[in-house]
Amino acid sequence: MEWHIYEQIQEIIDKAPTFHYTHGAFWNGGYVIIHSLPRRIPAIYGGVLQQFTMQKAYYTIHDVKERLWHSKAVTVLTGAGISAESGVPTFRGKVGLWKNFRPEDLATPEAFKNNPKLVWEWYDSRRQALSRLKPNAGHIAIAEIERRVKEFTLITQNVDGLHHLAGSKNIIELHGNIWRVRCLTCGEVDENRDAPIKILPFCECGGLLRPDVVWFGEMLSDSALTKAFVASDNCDLMFVIGTSGVVHPAASLALRAKDEGAFVVEINIDNTPLSVSADVTLLGKAGDIMPQLL
Ligand code: OAD
Repeated sequence: MEWHIYEQIQEIIDKAPTFHYTHGAFWNGGYVIIHSLPRRIPAIYGGVLQQFTMQKAYYTIHDVKERLWHSKAVTVLTGAGISAESGVPTFRGKVGLWKNFRPEDLATPEAFKNNPKLVWEWYDSRRQALSRLKPNAGHIAIAEIERRVKEFTLITQNVDGLHHLAGSKNIIELHGNIWRVRCLTCGEVDENRDAPIKILPFCECGGLLRPDVVWFGEMLSDSALTKAFVASDNCDLMFVIGTSGVVHPAASLALRAKDEGAFVVEINIDNTPLSVSADVTLLGKAGDIMPQLL
C-alpha cells in the first residue's frame, strides 16, 4: 500500500469512533490476565468501507508492575469487587444485592423516613455478616502499595470498612461507612461496631441514628469528592479495581485521571464501560492479581 494511503487511513483512525474489546490471553500456564485493547476502525479504502483492526496496546502484568514502582503518585479506586473474595456480596450481577432487594425500599432517605425499622434491620443483617469477614489478599496488597509509594490515595465506594482492617490509611470513603452512625437531630457522627445493633438506635441527644452511608438520591460529601478529584487529577497511575463503573461520580474519576494523563489500569473479572478508557484491563480476581504486583 502506498504511504499516502497509510496516512489517510491513520487520519480516519484518529477521527473514527472506536470500538474496543478485550482480548484474553494466557500467561504463566493458563491464567488469564493479559488483555489488549485492539480497536476496529471503519475506514474507506478504495471506495469500499472496510474494517481494520489495530492493536492499540499490549501490556503484561510485568509492565504494570514496572509502572507502579516507577510512579510517584498512585490512586486506587475500588468497588464491591475488591471485597467479593472476602465474602461480601456485590451489588450487580447475577447474585448481586440489587437482584434480591429494591434499593428504593432500603437505601433511600424516603425509605428510612417511611420505615426506619426495616432499613435498620437490613443494615444490621449486613453488619452482622460483615463482622465475621476479613480483608483478602487484594485489600492487603493495596495497603502494602500505600506503604511503598510516595503519594498514595485510596478512593473506595465500599462501606464495609475492610480497607481499614487491611491497614490502608489514606482512604476516601465516597459512599460512607456502615460502621458509623449519624444523628438525624444533632448531626453527630460516631463509630458504632455493635452487631447486632439495637433497633432502633438513638443518639445521646435523643435523636434517631441512621447509618452514615450515602443513599440513592443523596449528595456525596463535598470534602470527600473534592479530595477524590484532586487525587484523580494528580496521579501518574490509577488502579480501578472491582467496580462496574456505572455509578457516578465515582466512575468518572477514572475518566478524569485518564484525561489528566494518568495511566489507568483496570482490574476486574469482566469488562466494564470503563474498559474502553483504561490503558490496560487485567481480567481476573483482584485477590489473585494485586499480590502479583508487589
Ligand atoms: P457492583 O456490584 O456494581 O460491581 C462489582 C464489580 O466487581 C463488577 O464489575 C464485577 O465484575 C467485579 N468483580 C466481582 N468480583 C471481583 C473480583 N474478585 N475481583 C475483581 N473484580 C470483581 O459494585 P460497585 O461498582 O462497587 O452504592 O457499585 C457501585 C455502587 O453501587 C456501590 O457503592 C453502591 C451501589 O449501589 C451505594 O450504595 C451508594
